Order: sequence, then structure tokens, then C-alpha cells
Amino acid sequence: MAGRDHIMYKVAETMLTEEQIQNRVKEMGLEISKDYEGESLVAVCTLKGAMIFMSDLVREIPLTVTFDTIAASSYGSGTESSGVVTIKKDLDMSIEGKNVLIVEDIIDSGRTLKALKEKLLERNPKSVKIATFLDKPSRRQVEVDVDYIGFTVEDKFIVGYGLDYDEQYRNLPYITCLEEE
Ligand code: IMP
Ligand code: MG
Repeated sequence: MAGRDHIMYKVAETMLTEEQIQNRVKEMGLEISKDYEGESLVAVCTLKGAMIFMSDLVREIPLTVTFDTIAASSYGSGTESSGVVTIKKDLDMSIEGKNVLIVEDIIDSGRTLKALKEKLLERNPKSVKIATFLDKPSRRQVEVDVDYIGFTVEDKFIVGYGLDYDEQYRNLPYITCLEEE
């Protein structure tokens, strides 16, 4: 949807309800807790889209979990990422020797996560895994290993539960998509 920022959008029907989301996030928390049993982990929230998912997910993981945040930007605005990924806000803490779980809102082209994972792996962590709330595999341009996926979605522009369009709609407790008005 690049270059269509002038178009007005309206919110379409609910794609995932609050209840569906909460149930799935609980399942993901259980799976992650089993995989990291006896270990501690650093949950890295990718700002800002993953804030809501992160806050729900970590409360379903009864292990020693510390938090950190990172913000990546793929240059450009609107609904398309450009491919050049830079870190706008880095982690506050060292991840050397730690189990890192990157918590992401949605994987689209895969560029952001591929770049982030590579950058974090340079810092000698014990492990780096990825948990994403949504996956849009039909849009993938680069390969990236994703360890935990909440829901797979079709190629629509999705908002709610942390995901935005022009910084709006992040606070919707459900998932919907935008339609041209
Ligand atoms: P990627 O580098 O193309 O995988 O871009 C991933 C980032 O683009 C996500 O972390 C989101 O911030 C944003 N993004 C991709 N698709 C959507 C969408 O459908 N709704 C809202 N944000 C999206
Ligand atoms: Mg994001």
C-alpha cells in the first residue's frame, strides 16, 4: 500500500476477537515456558508494535524473565517497509550469555527481524529465538526462522492489539484490518 497514504481507511470487521487472542497468547506462553524450563530469559519487546503482545505474553511465562526493548526502523512511512533496517533505540542491558526471546508484533517481508536477529547474535547471547504475534508469510522477501507464531494472517493491512496505521488503532483490544473508504 505504498504511496497510498492519502487514502482514508475505515476499520473492517473483526478478524481476531479479544478472546481468541487471549487464548492463543496463553498457549504460546505455555509452549515457551516448557521450552525454557529451568532457564531464565530476556524478553526483548520490539517497539512499539509488540508492546501489548509482550505485556500479555510475559504474564503467561512463570520463569525468571527480564525485559528489554529495542526499536528498529525500516526507513519509510505508511504501510510498506523499505528494506534498510537501523536500530533507533538499542537494548539497555548486555545479552551476553543470555537466552533472548525477541517479541514481535508481525512479520511481513521479514527484513526487520532478520536484521535484528543478526545484530543481537553478534553480542554472544546463549540463544536468540523469535516469538511473533502475527505472521504474513505470503509477503516474505527474506528468510527468517520464527520459533513461535500466534496466528498466520493473509495479506491485509492489520491494526489493533499494538499494531498501528499511522500510530493509530494500537489500543484496539482485537485485530481488524483497514479497508479503503
Ligand atoms: P518487515 O520488516 O517487512 O517484516 O516489517 C515488519 C514491521 O512492519 C512490523 O513489525 C510492523 O511494525 C510493520 N507491519 C507490517 N505489516 C503490518 C500490518 O499489516 N499492520 C501494521 N504494521 C505492519
Ligand atoms: Mg514492529
